[in-house]
This record gives sequence, structure tokens and C-alpha cells, in this order.
Amino acid sequence: MQNKDYFNINQPNIYQVQDCCFTIADCIETLNNMPKKSVNTIVTSPPYNLNKKYGKYDDNRTFEEWENLIDRVANSAFDVLTDNGSFLLNVSPIPDKKTKEIVPLDAIAYFVFKRNDYALRNSIVWHFNNMQNCVNRLSGRWEAILWFVKDINNYQFNLEDIRIPYITKNDKRLVGGTGRNPTDTWNFDIPESDFWYFDRVNNMTKNKLGIEEHPCIFPVPMIERIIKMTTQKGEVVLDPFLGSGTTLVAAQNLKRIGLGMELDEKFAPIIKQRVEKESKIDLFL
Ligand SMILES: C[S@@+](CC[C@H](N)C(=O)[O-])C[C@H]1O[C@@H](n2cnc3c(N)ncnc32)[C@H](O)[C@@H]1O
Repeated sequence: MQNKDYFNINQPNIYQVQDCCFTIADCIETLNNMPKKSVNTIVTSPPYNLNKKYGKYDDNRTFEEWENLIDRVANSAFDVLTDNGSFLLNVSPIPDKKTKEIVPLDAIAYFVFKRNDYALRNSIVWHFNNMQNCVNRLSGRWEAILWFVKDINNYQFNLEDIRIPYITKNDKRLVGGTGRNPTDTWNFDIPESDFWYFDRVNNMTKNKLGIEEHPCIFPVPMIERIIKMTTQKGEVVLDPFLGSGTTLVAAQNLKRIGLGMELDEKFAPIIKQRVEKESKIDLFL
């Protein structure tokens, strides 16, 4: 299948960059017109209702509207995923704009996905340090990555591709081993925990990459780990809320087909430029 064939052929604004393809369009409409069972993994971070300046998208909604958006995406994505497909959703606890009460978006998302027939395989904690300091409550330093699968008895988990170094490097029993299972001990700082430690992309890095335009950007290594964990080379990864295009950079690095949708056309040149410039060039091919 040509990459463009994943999207409705009549849809305007389809861009092919290296092995990736994205469209400037509404993700739900696009998902509804995609071939069934054509995507192995969906990984995404939807808007969080934090009044961020994304452009076309109004990030100032009621929680009912937000839940409805996630429900429609979960529903439309189900048929597009292969039978052994995965959906990894990154969400965060956020303060209610009026009451300042903390709302656990991951809890809302869990019930939304559950009623759309997905099963939760892991709830991953993404831990980071560079965020604002609060004075009237504990400063927030984590977000959730919910790993949903279509079928709890049939999904990809490529453990060998994501093993991490042993904690006790000099233990002779471990010599020659392939590293430890990161499933419930993913932390670069604190051993034996459920954390994934990747720093958030701060403003300095954004400036360096020339992507000041986008308010929330995934760290590439985090998405690479997810892609390696749930797909093989040549398989298909999709991000329905593509933003600045991080998922496509990671997919290109790992020789997967990367697909994505983004509502605002101002991100199209940024996505294109990031896939072209940030993905690693294989000099020996
Ligand atoms: C949190 S950002 C994603 C950031 C992304 N993870 C990155 O690394 O750059 C969410 C994005 O979803 C886009 N968006 C909102 N509603 C959309 C929709 N219905 N279809 C496609 N994109 C949408 C917004 O414009 C915004 O850029």
C-alpha cells in the first residue's frame, strides 16, 4: 500500500515526507475513512483542556466536551487498528480552571476506552523534572501513558527490543545477559519503580530545534521506546493529534511507516522540517 492510500484519496493536504505521511485534517473524520486493521500502534497526546494556544483548536472546553472528543477518537480508532494493535494515550492530571481542583484525565480516559472495548495493559508513569513549581500544593511531576490493547490475549510486546541495563552491573550471574525487563521498573533515577524518566522538551530545546511554535512536544526517545515495544520494522504507527510531528520523527528513525493528522496547517512546515532534519540519516544504506 502507498502511504497516501492510508488516507481518503479525496482528502486535500496530504504530505509525504520520507517514509511518513500526514494530513492537515480532523482526526476523527480521517480515521473514519481509513482502511480497517491497517495500523499497528496509535500513540498520541490529545489537548488537555489547559487553554494552550494550538491555533485552530479551542483548548478551553468543558470536561464533558473533552470526554466526548476522546470517546470519538477511541471509537473511530478501534477498527483502524490491527487485531493485535495497541493505543498508547498520554494524559495528565490537570487543574480545573474554575475550582482549581485536580482532575485525573487518565481516570476519565480509562473509562472511555473501557466502554469502547479496549483493555488496559499498563498504566505507565512518565516522570520529569522541568515543570512549574507550585506554592499551594505539591508540584506536578508526572503524566500518565495508558497502554490499551484491542485484545488482552493477542498484542505485541517486544521485550527484547526495550531491555535496559542491569542495576548491579558487576554481578557475575548477569554477565552476558541481555538487560532487565523494564515493564514495571522503568526509571533512570530510581530503581525498582514504575517510572519512565524522560525530560519534557523545554523552551531551550524548542528554540534549538526551531519549533517554538508548538506548546507541548513529546520527547523523541520516549516515543521510540513505545514504537519498539509494540511494532516491528516496516509496520505502521499513527498519531491522530500530531502537533509538531514527534511521532513521525521517531517512526522514521526506527524504519516504521509513520502516519498522522493535525488540525492546524501552520504546523505542516514544522512537521515536514522535523522529519527531514531530526530523523537520523543512515550513512551506510
Ligand atoms: C498536545 S498537542 C500534540 C503534541 C505532540 N505530541 C508533539 O509532540 O508535538 C495536540 C495537537 O492536537 C491538535 N488537534 C486538536 N484537535 C484535533 C483534531 N480533531 N484533529 C487533528 N488534530 C487535532 C492540536 O492542534 C495540537 O497541535
